[in-house]
Amino acid sequence: MNSVFFDPRLTDDARRESLYAGQLFVLSPTHASLALVELAKELIAEAFGGRDPERAQFEMVVEEYAALLAVLKPKFIHDPRAKECIQGILRETGCDLEKTYFDVPLMRTATTENYLTSGIAYAFHPHRDTWYSAPMCQINWWMPIYELEPSNAMAFHPRYWSQPVRNSSREYNYAEWNRTSRQAAGKHIKTDTRKQPKPEEPMELDPQLRLLPAPGGMIVFSGAQMHSTVPNGSERTRFSIDFRTVNYNDVAKGRGAPNVDSKCTGTTMRDYLRVTDLAHIPEEICLRYEAGPPAPTPSAAVAI
Ligand SMILES: [Fe+2]
Repeated sequence: MNSVFFDPRLTDDARRESLYAGQLFVLSPTHASLALVELAKELIAEAFGGRDPERAQFEMVVEEYAALLAVLKPKFIHDPRAKECIQGILRETGCDLEKTYFDVPLMRTATTENYLTSGIAYAFHPHRDTWYSAPMCQINWWMPIYELEPSNAMAFHPRYWSQPVRNSSREYNYAEWNRTSRQAAGKHIKTDTRKQPKPEEPMELDPQLRLLPAPGGMIVFSGAQMHSTVPNGSERTRFSIDFRTVNYNDVAKGRGAPNVDSKCTGTTMRDYLRVTDLAHIPEEICLRYEAGPPAPTPSAAVAI
């Protein structure tokens, strides 16, 4: 990665091509992204009552806080208005709606001072989503709900776009994870024993890049991009929303970012819903992705 595009005038095809080459995009808030942020704030306010959500962690015992998130987060995910907002965002940002599939938006929290960093508020170590059975053509969309600062943002580690990292993704299978670990997120409060794909060698995380869009502004990046949760030193809990998309033409033709080091099996392909009618990707195509990404070819990811 060597470029960050801000609100570029590009077609959807050209944007995906750039994303697969490792570039990053920052998009200004749109009508629908602001509506999604408003929906999130409404549900957050309802959950936290009179408390300031960004500071509530200082007034609550951690078990109570985790229990609150365990109700709030699924409520946001499954609110039908959230899907409508995603459909709106993809329309407003020029995606081909017949070809674009998305998964439900997730709400994430990053508490400060290591208050809660496991289970329902897992603090993500450096990773690529493609270590977690995402296809190489997955595109991630990420937006803050409240004002960001450098100390509560997310970080990109650009040198690893083309540089492989020894990692444990070979032990990860999405279907297996869903069977055994996902439901248990709310139970992991002090530590997280669920087996996640992780780096198996020391990494150089600096220099790193932290992009700070306004609430409702979006960072768009390839699922192959190395990224992490910044240890939150802002004294405020960070709330964010993310969702993922794939384009059917790329899925069908096996196009996407180069694979430098992902060795997981299984696929998240069955999670995506077509923008126009919420149809799933045909099963015969999903099956092609069960074996995991094509074998890593580190030299393929030359930055352009
Ligand atoms: Fe991620």
